Amino acid sequence: MGLTRTGVALDSDLLKRFDRFLQQEGYDNRSEAIRDLIRDRLNEATLESGHGFVVGTVTLIYDHHFRLLSDKLTALQHQYHELIISTVHSHLDHDMCLEVVVVKGKLKRVQELASRLIGLKGVQHGKLVMSSPQAYTLGPIQYSESNLPRHHHSH
Ligand code: NI
Repeated sequence: MGLTRTGVALDSDLLKRFDRFLQQEGYDNRSEAIRDLIRDRLNEATLESGHGFVVGTVTLIYDHHFRLLSDKLTALQHQYHELIISTVHSHLDHDMCLEVVVVKGKLKRVQELASRLIGLKGVQHGKLVMSSPQAYTLGPIQYSESNLPRHHHSH
């Protein structure tokens, strides 16, 4: 990808604060930090627009002994199976589970699935993280639920 130089006029106070922030964040390159901020904001703007496809993860922490919770989590994932690329389950200890559901699809549907999973009684922590692939390219990406990887399993 070609790089174009651009100059940005900043007041010195703002730049000082920015440089301090970069130090805290561990950046050693101001340009890379500015690129990251721009990408992050563009990503957010695309997400806010509510259009298009998103990819993401729903992270869930729960106690698998909680009444019917494992069944409900499985049932919900089957109900929204077209959004789910894969699920990683890790047994943290005797009681607690970590589950990460990798999702893709229309923003509203992904949010709906995530809030239903996270809202299940017994889920102690849940978080949806989304990224919008369209934010990183100039051309339109044609994502559809049919040409993205599908998740197949037997039960
Ligand atoms: Ni488990």
